[in-house]
Amino acid sequence: MPYHRITMTHFLLEEQRRLGRSGSFTALMTDIIFACKMIAHEVNRGALAGNHGLAGSENVQGEDQKKLDVLANDIFMHMNALGGNYAGMASEELEDVHVVHGAAQGKYLLLFDPLDGSSNIDVNISVGSIFSILRLPEGANTVAEAAFLQKGVEQVAAGYALYGSSTMMVLTTGNGVNGFTLDSNVGMFMLTHPDLRIPDDTQEFAINASRSRFWEPPIKRYVDECQAGKDGPRGKDFNMRWVASMVAEVHRILVRGGIFMYPADSENIKKGGKLRLMYEANPMAFIVEQAGGGATTGRGRIMELQPAALHQRVPVILGSKAEVERIDAYHTEFDRT
Ligand code: AHG
Ligand code: MN
Ligand code: MN
Repeated sequence: MPYHRITMTHFLLEEQRRLGRSGSFTALMTDIIFACKMIAHEVNRGALAGNHGLAGSENVQGEDQKKLDVLANDIFMHMNALGGNYAGMASEELEDVHVVHGAAQGKYLLLFDPLDGSSNIDVNISVGSIFSILRLPEGANTVAEAAFLQKGVEQVAAGYALYGSSTMMVLTTGNGVNGFTLDSNVGMFMLTHPDLRIPDDTQEFAINASRSRFWEPPIKRYVDECQAGKDGPRGKDFNMRWVASMVAEVHRILVRGGIFMYPADSENIKKGGKLRLMYEANPMAFIVEQAGGGATTGRGRIMELQPAALHQRVPVILGSKAEVERIDAYHTEFDRT
């Protein structure tokens, strides 16, 4: 009987009771849930609603914005400003932080990637939204960029929505990771994946192999060893995946293990890496660690990096713990020689 499931709203209320929280966290999560449902609807209508193609503009990082990047950003901004639960917001698609003015200014900061994997929109492959929630620092009376520049370990919550063959939301508040599936007939997310745990070992890796000529030796070594399969030093065969939507890759890893890498290479290191620290790497690192996995740059834990800028980029290696530790060790060995 499907209606015996726990709804996401009830799950959040139960957490609120258990932790003795005031309810403002539950209220801000409700805004995010609404935003993600609306984005899911627009992704789903696709070409019917004229939602495919380019917007004809660039974001602050010089990337072409797709129509759905812009629409998803507008939806996120609007839903979350309406609720008044945030003091400020920052997005991949906005150059500067957005201060929420209102009678009841909230005590949280919201960072988001409104649409992740947007190169996949027009070809009907999974995309997602990623969010990270921080506290407005004590005594911060202006919501400027500096208030947002907190380490990943300071996150209050992080999550993503996956617009895939079904729409899901995955959330951590620092007490494990839970996954909810949207029942679109009733418009509610239902708890379908309680307490997600990433297996320690894996036989699956995800990396954009077209960049192999730019890789550093530790990454090249790891991938070569995976590809050598049963006959190589790993003594087992590996499979490779690359969706080009980080949300989809992280979701696969949460469900069946694996490793995802967008490492530093000789080309992207000029910008610090490919993925953005504050609204891609940190929230995903929080989720993956809470599910028993690891998240590193290859040279240190992602969540311990002190951010220097809102749109800062960073190398990302995350997933099954034993694999992450192995790749860290390869970097340490390489750096020593
Ligand atoms: P976004 O669409 O928000 O710019 O992020 C895309 C990211 C990430 O989701 C994905 O893993 C990676 O960029 C894909 O990069 P390639 O195009 O190099 O495969
Ligand atoms: Mn992204
Ligand atoms: Mn994006």
